[in-house]
Amino acid sequence: MDLNLQEIRRIAEEIALNTAPVLMDYYQKPLQYTSKTSKVDIVTEADKASEARIVALLQQHFPDHHIVGEEGGGMGAPAETARYFWYVDPLDGTVNFANHIPMFSISLALTDRERRPLVGVVYHPVAHELYSGAIGHGATLNDTPLRVSQATELINSVVASGFPYSKAIDPDNNIREWGEFVTRTRGTRRMGSAALDMCYVAAGRYDGYWEQKLHPWDYLAGAVCVQEAGGQVTDYTGKDDPSIYQHGRIVASNGHIHDEMIALLASTAS
Ligand code: IPD
Ligand code: CA
Ligand code: CA
Repeated sequence: MDLNLQEIRRIAEEIALNTAPVLMDYYQKPLQYTSKTSKVDIVTEADKASEARIVALLQQHFPDHHIVGEEGGGMGAPAETARYFWYVDPLDGTVNFANHIPMFSISLALTDRERRPLVGVVYHPVAHELYSGAIGHGATLNDTPLRVSQATELINSVVASGFPYSKAIDPDNNIREWGEFVTRTRGTRRMGSAALDMCYVAAGRYDGYWEQKLHPWDYLAGAVCVQEAGGQVTDYTGKDDPSIYQHGRIVASNGHIHDEMIALLASTAS
C-alpha cells in the first residue's frame, strides 16, 4: 500500500481536534435547526459548519481523495477516479447536541474504493476523548492503547444500541430486539451517538453494540477502533465485509459474546 496510514491518522486526529471548537461554539448558544426526513430527524447549523471545516481541511491535505459527508454528499476528487474515500459524520448525536446532552462526536473514516476501512478517528469534545485507529497499527484513546472487554457471556454483559429515525413509521425499528437484550444482559444503554457506542466497545466499556439502518459515516471509524482493539465487527449475519453490510446492520463486540448476539438477533430480527 502506498499510503502512510499512521501519518494519515495523525492528520485526521488534528482535523477532528481542530473542528471541535466549531461545535463547542454552537453548543453554548441557542440553536437553529431544521427537519430532514421527519420531525425527529433534525440538522443544526452546527452539523453544517462542522462539515464545512472538516471538508475544507480534508481537501487541503488529500486533494486526490473523494469525500462523502453526511450533510453534503459527494465532494472532493471524483468518486469514479479517487482511490481513497473519506466518510464524515460532522456531528454524531445531533439530537443530544440540540438538547444540550453532552454526548456527541465527530467521526472520520478513510476507506479504499471497496469501502474497507483503513483509518478511523472519533472525537468526543466534551469529554476530551480522542479515539483513533489504523488497520495494522492498533487503536488508542488519548494515546493509550485500547483493548476490548473480557466478558464471555451475554448475561454478564452491558450492551448498547440505537433506533432509526424511521422508528414511528417502519415497524422494523429495533424495539423487539431491544426488548430481548434488556432481559438477557446485565444492562442495556442508548447513548445517542453510534460512533461513540462503537468506541466504547473498543475501550472495553461496553461489551457489545448492535444497530440497524446505520450509514457508513456512523460506523466506519468506530469499526477500525473495535477491530484494532481486538474486537469483532460484522453485520447481523456474521459477515465482516463493510461493503456488503445489509440494511446498515452492525454488530460490534469484544468477540467473545459475538455469536450470542448474532443468534439473538437472528431469532428476533424481521
Ligand atoms: C445518529 C446517532 C444515533 C443513532 C442513529 C444515528 P446522527 O446519528 O448515531 O445514536 O441511533 O441511528 O443516525 O443523526 O446524530 O448523526
Ligand atoms: Ca450519525
Ligand atoms: Ca450526523
